[in-house]
Amino acid sequence: MNSCLRAVVRSCAHYGIQCVGIEQGYQGMINGLYVDLKPETVSGIINQGGTVLGSSRSPEFRTPEGREKAKLFIQDIGVEGIIGIGGDGTYRGLIEFAKLSDLPIIGIPGTIDNDINGTDYTIGFDTAVNTAIEAIDKIRDTAKSHKRLFFVEVMGRYAGHIALAAGVGGGAEAILIPEETTHLEKLIEKLKTGWKRKKSSMLVVVAEGDDAGDAFQVAEQVKKHIDGYEIKVTVLGHIQRGGSPSAADRLLATRFGQLAVSSILEGASHKMTAIVNGKYCLVELNQVFEGRKKLDTEFLKALDIAAS
Ligand code: F6P
Repeated sequence: MNSCLRAVVRSCAHYGIQCVGIEQGYQGMINGLYVDLKPETVSGIINQGGTVLGSSRSPEFRTPEGREKAKLFIQDIGVEGIIGIGGDGTYRGLIEFAKLSDLPIIGIPGTIDNDINGTDYTIGFDTAVNTAIEAIDKIRDTAKSHKRLFFVEVMGRYAGHIALAAGVGGGAEAILIPEETTHLEKLIEKLKTGWKRKKSSMLVVVAEGDDAGDAFQVAEQVKKHIDGYEIKVTVLGHIQRGGSPSAADRLLATRFGQLAVSSILEGASHKMTAIVNGKYCLVELNQVFEGRKKLDTEFLKALDIAAS
């Protein structure tokens, strides 16, 4: 988010536009929390995780009264266009706010979950996947030395993009994701095959939102059927949400930020910046909620071949 914020601020300066940052997300719009953002304010943040503006979940913004307060504040300070960076909560907010206001609005997809429909990638996903793979590599060292079967839980409340990418990239034996019904008997079969092949370790990546339960619950079910491996569970949790952004994320964030500003100047509104088949573009804001973003199922096939 910081890389993107920097790009937005520097683009505004480039085009001679005044830029302010709302602190604490939508709650800041209600409480009137903002700062002037100048090129020097965002100096040295391209390599920092998180957002210097702060963020929050705002139950008040979900109410018509809260949004009305936010609108009055935005009018008061003379805002002429809004750029929102975030995940599905951000888009719900932007779409609701657009019903009250004629201001041009552009969204920039930023969530580690990569579950925003309309764009192939969201800011934060690549960094989170790299963090998860690094952790999986380290866990594998113990797993191999002690002949263990590890269940590693990664983030993804509703989506398995992180699990799929980290699982394939980390050489997992199996991956459980919310988009596919989990059949525990198939998983157990797969693990038994690994055992027969005398694998020195095995590792299953579980997305936190998987229908079979969390990694502890899945491990408990599997335990009854697997001999020969000590079973362990690791939940990676919020380490996936922080840290210095990867090169790919910094580039994506920079291009999205610049595109958002130039698009507003060209008269665009109710759009989201996106990358589709390698091309940067704008898509309709509403597209975000048109169905669930599809997983790249080629990766599921890749896993079956690679882990067999
Ligand atoms: O929305 C991204 C996400 O990382 C989910 O995958 C995860 O479940 C959630 O956020 C965690 O949110 P919180 O920090 O509020 O617990």
